This record gives sequence, C-alpha cells and structure tokens, in this order.
Amino acid sequence: MLVSAKEMLNKARDGKYAVGQFNINNLEWTKAILLTAQELSSPVILGVSEGAGKYMAGYKTVVGMVNGMLEELKITVPVALHLDHGSYEGALKCIEAGFSSIMFDGSHYPIEENIQKTKELVKICNEKGLSLEAEVGSIGGEEDGVVGAGEFADPNECKAIAELGVTMLAAGIGNIHGKYPANWPGLNFETLAAVKEKTGNVPLVLHGGTGIPEDMIKKAISLGVAKINVNTECQLSFAAATRKYIEEGKDLQGKGFDPRKLLAPGFEAIKATVKEKMELFGSVGKA
Ligand code: 13P
Repeated sequence: MLVSAKEMLNKARDGKYAVGQFNINNLEWTKAILLTAQELSSPVILGVSEGAGKYMAGYKTVVGMVNGMLEELKITVPVALHLDHGSYEGALKCIEAGFSSIMFDGSHYPIEENIQKTKELVKICNEKGLSLEAEVGSIGGEEDGVVGAGEFADPNECKAIAELGVTMLAAGIGNIHGKYPANWPGLNFETLAAVKEKTGNVPLVLHGGTGIPEDMIKKAISLGVAKINVNTECQLSFAAATRKYIEEGKDLQGKGFDPRKLLAPGFEAIKATVKEKMELFGSVGKA
C-alpha cells in the first residue's frame, strides 16, 4: 500500500540520512526502482512530473500501475507516489487519482500567492492523510537549451511556508535540474544553514540530485536535507546502456529486437544508478 512520505522523511531527518525521490517515466523505470528499494530494504519516493503523468496516459494509469506492482512484486518497503512540481490543478487531480504525496510548486508566484495556495493544499492533504511538499526560490535548469541559474531561497519566506504545516520544504540553494554546467559554483551552504535555522524541524528537499558531488550531498544531509530528487541520472544511464546494446548490433541477433530484451540493459542500468544513490544517501536498510 502506498504511504505518505511524512513518516519516512521524519525518520530520515532524525537519523541523518535522505530518502531518494526517483522520477518514473514508464513501466521499466517503476519496476527497476521498486525492486531496488525492496532488495536494499530502503524507503523510496516515486516522482511523477505533470509531463510524465501525461506521457503515461494519465494519473489514474500511474496509480493503477504502481499499486499493481506493489502487490504483484510483493513490495513491503515504504513507497510514496509523489507529484513532482505540481500546479494547483495538477495537485487536485493527483489527490483524486490516489497519489499519496504531492508537491505544489508555487515558487514562481509572488510569495503571498504561494502562501495562500500552499495553505489551501495543506488543509486538503491533511484531511486525506497525504504529505505535501512546498517550494521557495525556484530551482534553475535547462529549458530549450538555456541553462538558468538556481535561485537562493529567502529564509524568511521559507519560514512563512514551513509554518503552514507542510510536510517537507524544497528551498533553492543554487541547485538546478539536469546536468550542472562546468562553471557551476556548487550548493550554497550558507543559504541552506539559514533556511534550516528558520524552519526548525521540517525535512528539507534537495532537487536536482543529478551530478552533485558526493561530499556536497553528505554536507547537505548533515544540514537538514532528508529528501533528494534524482531524475536525469537514471535517464542518462538508461540511454547509455540502450545505446551500447544497439551499437553492438544485439538487436539484430536472434530475437534481440524483442522489447523485453532490448530494454533489459537500460532496466539494469537504472537499478544500478538507484542502488548507488541509495547507498550514498544512507537509506539502505532503513525501511
Ligand atoms: P535531476 O533531473 O537534475 O536529477 O533533478 C530531479 C528533480 O529535482 C526532480 O524534481
């Protein structure tokens, strides 16, 4: 059964480790992540962006697929199904469809509006027993080939959002989605420490987990980060393994064109990436 992310993140915060959110794109992704979490006895959060939800034929399809897998694959570790960077309307749809956790990203609104909308969703999520992630200070990233710098969240704004009773808070600390440019100055730990100081016990979320050096990940966890999002890194390892299979001509040998064979190396590559991250984040054995 899907669970809210609240308990797993509070435990992670207290135990000084982080739970990984791995974004899913299809059946292979979902199965690879769930099986790895089970093998390593780690809690896990499956992230679904609005675009990925649409791609997978809608939120209800996603909920049906994930619930089916939990049962058929006998997954017993805590699993949350989480909307990633949701709009207000998207959040309502996912709540209706059976997600167990929601991110409302109001970081592009003026702070008053972000507060107002987040407040309404806190109420709804509390009533239904779902966890809610809010965001302050937008996370940069690549859009149409232009890499935007990550913002630094205002710690006082973080305090105002945290006090609404959100389960977890994503604060921009110079992190960005996708690959980091060569001249990236790194995470801004002064901002992280200031946000932590103002927000007290709320588990903090680090987006843009792909390509952040290990020492920075560890330092972020020591400063209150309890959830780390990874998406691009699984995409890169899946693509590299699939490319290798085809470049070696394996799809042309025997029944190598069978999708169950063609997608197998990519599936294994996702498993390896997820394992590596769970070990780095310290969530292995914490289910
Ligand atoms: P990356 O794609 O950089 O790993 O970021 C994932 C993320 O933060 C999803 O919200």
